[in-house]
Amino acid sequence: MAEDTTEHELNSDEAAELTRDDLALGDEPHPGHDLASGDEPHPGHDLALGDEFHSGDEPHDDDENREPELDPEVAARRAAALAQVRKFGDPVLKTRARPVDRFDDALRSEIARMGELMIDALGVGLAATQVGVLHRVLVYRVQQQSPVAALVNPEIEWSGSDQEIMEEGCLSLPAVLVDVERAIHVRVRAVDEFGEPVLVEASGLEARVIQHEIDHLDGVLILNRTSRDQRKEAMRTLREAQAAA
Ligand code: NI
Repeated sequence: MAEDTTEHELNSDEAAELTRDDLALGDEPHPGHDLASGDEPHPGHDLALGDEFHSGDEPHDDDENREPELDPEVAARRAAALAQVRKFGDPVLKTRARPVDRFDDALRSEIARMGELMIDALGVGLAATQVGVLHRVLVYRVQQQSPVAALVNPEIEWSGSDQEIMEEGCLSLPAVLVDVERAIHVRVRAVDEFGEPVLVEASGLEARVIQHEIDHLDGVLILNRTSRDQRKEAMRTLREAQAAA
């Protein structure tokens, strides 16, 4: 759990800059919410998300309820899990994680905990940096009944040239959905929780989630991967959520 304070301070400044930049832009006339998200989130898009299925169960001002209501117990578990996930503005999210070199019980329990958090949060992926741990570790599960997969020290060895744009959400960016272009096919080299080599050939949603989580390990968020307009809209959403909290 050791963290590099120097890196944090640097990234904290960057975060402040980003916020200032967007606050300044906030004075410009805005077309409102509708332009940047002409396509409202709907269930059909949910499987395309990086970290999470959807953020539609976050509190909304509008009356339109497109997402199915969560069972209260599931919702409570999700809220408790999300409370443990670092949110936008936390410098750890802009910090590059370090390779893992000890494959011990502590690492395995860290991975198990991440898997549980991801499931409780109804996510499809989670990176260690999102729980404040600067280890190059990610977990994901793109099909509900599959076991949770864990990749340690993942490296994208090859990306296909075909790319596609899909809407992604992130457990660290509540209520934000933005379009992100990513390679459709990737080959990823990693090791498992015991240090044994793993080679993953992934396509579609699995490839997207892995790329999203590796981005987290490099301190990169979907805000850095979307259009300027969508980023501005997302920043506004985040500010509104922070103001309301
Ligand atoms: Ni994410």
